[in-house]
Amino acid sequence: SETLRVGIAGVGTVGAAVARLLARQSEALASRTGRKIIVTAFSARDPGKERDADLSGCQFFTDPSALAASPAIDLFVELIGGAEGPARASVETALTHGKSVVTANKALLAAHGVELAALAEQKHAALAFEASVAGGIPIVKTLREGLAGNSIRRVYGILNGTCNYILSRMEREGLSFEQCLSEAQKLGYAEADPTFDIGGFDTAHKLSILASLAFGVKIEPDAIDIEGIERVTLADIEAAAELGFRIKLLGVAQRTADGVEQRVHPTMVRKSTPIAEVMGVLNAVTIDADAVNELTLVGPGAGGDATASAVVADIADIARGVRSAPFGVPAEGLLELVRAPMRRHEGG
Ligand code: HSE
Repeated sequence: SETLRVGIAGVGTVGAAVARLLARQSEALASRTGRKIIVTAFSARDPGKERDADLSGCQFFTDPSALAASPAIDLFVELIGGAEGPARASVETALTHGKSVVTANKALLAAHGVELAALAEQKHAALAFEASVAGGIPIVKTLREGLAGNSIRRVYGILNGTCNYILSRMEREGLSFEQCLSEAQKLGYAEADPTFDIGGFDTAHKLSILASLAFGVKIEPDAIDIEGIERVTLADIEAAAELGFRIKLLGVAQRTADGVEQRVHPTMVRKSTPIAEVMGVLNAVTIDADAVNELTLVGPGAGGDATASAVVADIADIARGVRSAPFGVPAEGLLELVRAPMRRHEGG
């Protein structure tokens, strides 16, 4: 049982939380996986920056691809973000060197997940991404392992904490959309460009990953009809409430007679359903499957420790030698993605 040496690219909120969690849980992880797991190297743009983790004794790189190729690590954790640039280059480098990769990068997977998965397979390396969808909720494992005996009919949920926070605050406090958005940005959960959140694109990235796991379809966020929450007004929320509904930004992927339909839009959800009760910066995913019927997971979709929980779960899997096929296998041939009709927002 040799040591598993981990390299972390990007030591921001999540990266520092991963380093702390690995240190704090080192004994438990060693007994759970049979291996000692240690961070031996990391990369970051600024070596001198104060960090909320003890990285003394680690080798330091400014170039994440140099870290990815370094013989000092066995496993590469990518927490840089972005679909292109250093994130993509370093993940490709790590896989090319036969090193397993753990990533939280939904944009990278949405854009290049299929090629990266093929590269991983060719190199007998793992590509793990539990943290890329719904932060601390173990939804990837649930779909792939927990529900392996089911045929999934539908998966839908609240996949963006920023949007759910905004909609919750508007309803509870009667505040305007703009006010709630600026509060959400101060909390630090919003993307660098909040258009990704409020425009529904972040939800679409995550949904495309869930759909590929649930239905074996190609990851194809460009084929998803997306409507964000920018045009949701207080009047819309109040009108929905009077009818016994709440407005939630949902990502929905479901089997239809023609294939798999994927869409993202503000949705009227009946109050008292599990998903309608989820308020604030939380995520929730409901899975409708033939054997379990309906199942909802609720939890933190963002934040350092919660996301680190998912990253560390993937690291533990790799330490144990688990290498799951990255994406789902279609039950009966590759299902076609069907473009859904656009829903029109009336009077907004
Ligand atoms: N901006 C995202 C959110 C962060 O608000 O949910 C987690 O992916």
